[in-house]
Amino acid sequence: MTPLQLLFHSNADSKADWEKRLAALDPSIEVRVWPDAGELAAIEAALVWKPPAGLLAKLPRLRLILSLGMGVDHVFADTLLPKHVPVARLVVPDLVNRMSEYCALAVLRYHRNADAYDAFQRERKWKGLPGEPAGANRRVGILGLGEIGRDLAGKLAPFGFKLAGWSRTPKQVPGVESFHGRAGLAPFLARSEIVVCLLPLTPETEGILNADAFAALPKGAVVINAARGGHVVESDLVAALDSGHLAAAQLDVFRQEPLPADHRFWTHPKIRVTPHNAGVTDPMAAADQIVENLRRLRAGEPLLNIVDPVRGY
Ligand code: NDP
Ligand code: OXD
Repeated sequence: MTPLQLLFHSNADSKADWEKRLAALDPSIEVRVWPDAGELAAIEAALVWKPPAGLLAKLPRLRLILSLGMGVDHVFADTLLPKHVPVARLVVPDLVNRMSEYCALAVLRYHRNADAYDAFQRERKWKGLPGEPAGANRRVGILGLGEIGRDLAGKLAPFGFKLAGWSRTPKQVPGVESFHGRAGLAPFLARSEIVVCLLPLTPETEGILNADAFAALPKGAVVINAARGGHVVESDLVAALDSGHLAAAQLDVFRQEPLPADHRFWTHPKIRVTPHNAGVTDPMAAADQIVENLRRLRAGEPLLNIVDPVRGY
């Protein structure tokens, strides 16, 4: 195979694992790890997570940008991004499954009032909550019926929940009521007692979880955000929780990551925080797809999982 130089940029600890896995799968890929990448002139592809602004524009022979995650907002955030270079995202069953596990656990925890029972145990209180609904009476809504949203719906369906999804275009997913477009958002929210956000972050979805959206949810609703911090207007969320309109929120992603130590979310009694690890990209599960895309690039074959730069996902 013709050798190919690949720039690798990530702040995660997995650099060495990626290098090892890529070398094992295709020794003709020469991985150059930023910032010790040396001469950049011959680099043809870049595998990145949150690349510094302008880095990709410095690569004159760049032909493909590969996201180290399923989301690509971290790539499009670079205002100097070379617009002629295609951007591919990961679509990895292992990662989809991890995301669904995270969201399903959160849905089930809130459905079964787990926080309340944890508190009762701490108080040695033998107490059941009245009127807890069966799965068939619980209305769960999924914002985004893409790879992860559809998988989550499939995993929640056996519990009997009343499921609905919101997407840009209408969807036919068995057992899932489809809402779409701006006009479909308010009715979707109005019927969702537990709402899970699995949207890509784009100019259209930035701040979508705001005061209007929270007001449209039924009183006592729960918000789970495993997508991006930019979807949430943080002050609106705190206000909706403090007013008692929302019962709780579980957040994996934040406008600023890591979440600053003095951020209100850490100590808010109705917020559960996890450190953007709902879905971690495992090089053992994901590197094959990178290698296959680089093979296709060299062979001039159609590339996998190229995103639409206009839609932003
Ligand atoms: P997909 O691109 O497969 O699906 C996106 C869904 O969102 C589609 O159903 C799409 O509608 C819908 N959508 C997009 N824009 C709009 C809009 N303006 N109005 C209504 N619906 C819209 O995404 P994935 O399922 O692969 O991933 C979702 C996100 O999850 C990623 O972008 C990433 O940010 C996040 N993520 C977070 C992780 C974590 O660890 N916390 C890990 C992995 C991903 P349509 O189908 O009609 O196009
Ligand atoms: C992703 C992520 O987009 O990890 O894959 O957030």
